[in-house]
Amino acid sequence: MKSWKLKAVASVLFCFGAIGNASAAGDKYNSIPEMGASAKNAIANYAGTERTIGVKSLHDYIVQEDELFDFLFQNHPMFKYQEEGNLIGDYHISDRGEEYLDTGGSQAYSKRVGRPSAVQYRLGAKSTLDFPNNFVGPEKCAECHATQYEKWQRSRHANVVRFPSEITDKEVPNGDLNAKLYGSEASMLPDGVRANDVYAIIGTPRTKYGFLDSWLVRGTYHVRDGLLSEGTGKMVAGGNQFSRGWAEWLTPEMAKKINKAIPEFPVTLEEFGASGSHQWGMTSYGAKYEKEMLFQPGSSYCEMCHTYKFDFQNKEEFFDALGDAKKLQEHTISKGIACEECHGAGGHLDGGTGGMQSNCERCHQRFFFVDALADTEQAQEKMEYAFGVYMKSACPSCGTEGSQMFASAHYEKGMRCTTCHDPHEVTDGDFLSGFSTPKLKKDCVDCHEAQATIADNTDTHSNQTCQSCHMPNMGSCENFAAIQFPDNAGFDAVRRTHMWKIDIDPERKTLNPPEGQPRDSSVKGWTVAKNEDGHNYLDLMWTCARTAISDKDVVDNKGCHSPFQSELEVGLHYDDQMEIYGEVMKMQKPVKEVFAQVEQALERIDMLLEVTKLSTADKTEVLMLAEKAQETIELIKEDGSWGVHGFRYSQKRLDAALTYVTQAQNILDGVGYSAK
Ligand code: HEC
Ligand code: HEC
Ligand code: HEC
Ligand code: HEC
Ligand code: HEC
Ligand code: HEC
Ligand code: HEC
Repeated sequence: MKSWKLKAVASVLFCFGAIGNASAAGDKYNSIPEMGASAKNAIANYAGTERTIGVKSLHDYIVQEDELFDFLFQNHPMFKYQEEGNLIGDYHISDRGEEYLDTGGSQAYSKRVGRPSAVQYRLGAKSTLDFPNNFVGPEKCAECHATQYEKWQRSRHANVVRFPSEITDKEVPNGDLNAKLYGSEASMLPDGVRANDVYAIIGTPRTKYGFLDSWLVRGTYHVRDGLLSEGTGKMVAGGNQFSRGWAEWLTPEMAKKINKAIPEFPVTLEEFGASGSHQWGMTSYGAKYEKEMLFQPGSSYCEMCHTYKFDFQNKEEFFDALGDAKKLQEHTISKGIACEECHGAGGHLDGGTGGMQSNCERCHQRFFFVDALADTEQAQEKMEYAFGVYMKSACPSCGTEGSQMFASAHYEKGMRCTTCHDPHEVTDGDFLSGFSTPKLKKDCVDCHEAQATIADNTDTHSNQTCQSCHMPNMGSCENFAAIQFPDNAGFDAVRRTHMWKIDIDPERKTLNPPEGQPRDSSVKGWTVAKNEDGHNYLDLMWTCARTAISDKDVVDNKGCHSPFQSELEVGLHYDDQMEIYGEVMKMQKPVKEVFAQVEQALERIDMLLEVTKLSTADKTEVLMLAEKAQETIELIKEDGSWGVHGFRYSQKRLDAALTYVTQAQNILDGVGYSAK
């Protein structure tokens, strides 16, 4: 086996050198096995600090991959398929240089501040390329911390990276990773790739499954008419990722149904374009079907957040195991987001660690530096204003909870992820379910008492929780521009937003293309809008009329007001933001009117009290009535929804308040004006 590997490389390097020069200025998908410009530059002009003062800098991370790439260029099957003329689609080499220095607007920001910065990502202190290994593994921690371990091992953090042998029969019949799922044509592993060819499956039935092959390279391909393990057939770009929503819900029938309302909605595989494939439910991720794919080792990207660690003591051991999935699995000491990813390698077992846990934003943040905002007045004053949310086409990317929250009132008041979330029990329930229901340490109602009081007494939205309206599924895990349609509030939205603030404006939109561009998901450069306070906000379509099937609230609540999903009466299916605004006004106008009347009356009562002579009994009565009305006024004001949280209850309370103030005024007016 080893012999063809080496042979393959020599000729690949030889015959593609020339093409390299020819297309250097053109398309980045050029099938040349060379690291990218940023990485090559870092390697050629070493400016790291690890060799001099022992501090591993961003630069050092990038240089660290050099040897790995040399090895992969010599040994990975993709280059063998290429040499034999059996590669369909071009590849692009994607390394840490590209991921850290080039994505998320990093270049623009680095240029402005004059130092390198990885805007989109945070780097874990340790990677699989660090030797010797310093991790001890979660089972070691469990020896003394059984309770944290119990909570954690049930979670998706613990189960997001699994060996093929750990996939349950509940997910695939008889442990067959190539079986077709949910009545679709797609399977967990793509055509030609078998369980023995992969180190790990990334994902759960929540949204999708990806894989890392036995070279720890991200699977962006499938094999047509052959087997990867035998090097037969053709290696084809894309058709590499099982996507549950597409397989289970977005069936050809559903696509036709949606197409009736949105004529541009794709109904055939061809119309899905490059993000689809030859099988319904199988998508192309990190790839365009038959056209392009990334060649990207886990060390450049996936490993940063879908973590795994080995017990190798030196790189010789590591390189010896690469290509052998079983050996890699045997040498795995920690996988998933395990204890040491947050508490540090070895935890406190090897002395103190300072007690600070790695924060959640390391993996859940993903900023994007919006260069166009950097010259605005707000950004000139505070440069962080130009940091937005990393997008997947026209929607926020999944894993952007941190950058969304950064622009919220919650963040400003000092709240962080673990204010609400339990760091160990991030999954409260079965990780095999299609929904996320994280365990919360603090619920909305623990802090928002006024809203809780009114919502408790509502009849219209009594089945809803606060997050039903304030945290719609908006995040997209893919660049599936073909099905996003953000103005119809998303068909590809799989993760809850962390913006919270709702803006009831009839026209303002949460997601917007660059100025002057059409509102089309294929347009580049969409951003999340900020309001006058610099906060993100949700528009009324996303709040009330969203569609995504992976949204538990839409599913549990008769499809809410989605024009495609709703089981409510037809008058309550909203496909227009103005229409929803009209409904909101129907609630808010009368509430605001009575509120204003009561407020004015209270002011008048205050004034009259100063100038009117009353008996003690009358005065007590007036003060009591005014105080009762004032309580309601404060409740309504504190609530801030002007009837949306509970229209009838708000109105009932205000009507009562109006009676109180009228009564109080009658008493005052009855005595007649008389100077004190
Ligand atoms: C030999 C037993 C033992 C092992 C193994 C162990 N711990 Fe601990 N751990 C302790 C004790 C004892 C304390 C301090 C007393 C307490 O808080 O209960 C502690 C406290 C902690 C704390 C709380 C520190 C604080 O500031 O309150 C964390 C976090 C922690 N351990 C993480 C880990 C991790 C991660 C591992 C695995 C790498 C681990 N522990 C392995 C015994 C152990
Ligand atoms: C910057 C961190 C980061 C990187 C890098 C990253 N992911 Fe993720 N990924 C996440 C987060 C966070 C989630 C959960 C979604 C969320 O929080 O919105 C996720 C979710 C997923 C899921 C869905 C899991 C499920 O149970 O439904 C899959 C599959 C996945 N990622 C695969 C990959 C693969 C393959 C790579 C490398 C090509 C990768 N990811 C790189 C952070 C990352
Ligand atoms: C996703 C990050 C994360 C992971 C994974 C994680 N922890 Fe923690 N852990 C934290 C944070 C943050 C705290 C601080 C307490 C809080 O915020 O609720 C904490 C607190 C603790 C404590 C102090 C007592 C307590 O419960 O608050 C112990 C002990 C502990 N962790 C052990 C572990 C062990 C053992 C594992 C692996 C089975 C683990 N942790 C995995 C983030 C994590
Ligand atoms: C090393 C990267 C990493 C860190 C650090 C991390 N996460 Fe995650 N988290 C992930 C990935 C990847 C997923 C996706 C798992 C999946 O869907 O299978 C995830 C999923 C989740 C989920 C959804 C669970 C579910 O059942 O769907 C929650 C909630 C969550 N993380 C909260 C946190 C919190 C809170 C912290 C900090 C205490 C944290 N995460 C730190 C990578 C990380
Ligand atoms: C104000 C409270 C609050 C804060 C702060 C918060 N979350 Fe959440 N988060 C929630 C709630 C509520 C849910 C949904 C729970 C449910 O419906 O069962 C959720 C869900 C999630 C999910 C699952 C998303 C999905 O749909 O799969 C992830 C991942 C997550 N949060 C990560 C984070 C991270 C990371 C941070 C910090 C950047 C954070 N959260 C801050 C309240 C919060
Ligand atoms: C730990 C307490 C706490 C929790 C838990 C909490 N909030 Fe808040 N929330 C606050 C504070 C404090 C503010 C800021 C209030 C202010 O500025 O007047 C706030 C503000 C808000 C705002 C207004 C945002 C803006 O930009 O003006 C909304 C909407 C909101 N919260 C909704 C929620 C929802 C929904 C949940 C549950 C997912 C939740 N909150 C959980 C404390 C909390
Ligand atoms: C039926 C949808 C819905 C539900 C359920 C809901 N809200 Fe709201 N909420 C809204 C709307 C719409 C507004 C904005 C009204 C406006 O700005 O005029 C709002 C406003 C708010 C505000 C005021 C924010 C501001 O901008 O000042 C807070 C805080 C809030 N909600 C918290 C909650 C909490 C806590 C719950 C759960 C008890 C909850 N909401 C349940 C729709 C909802």
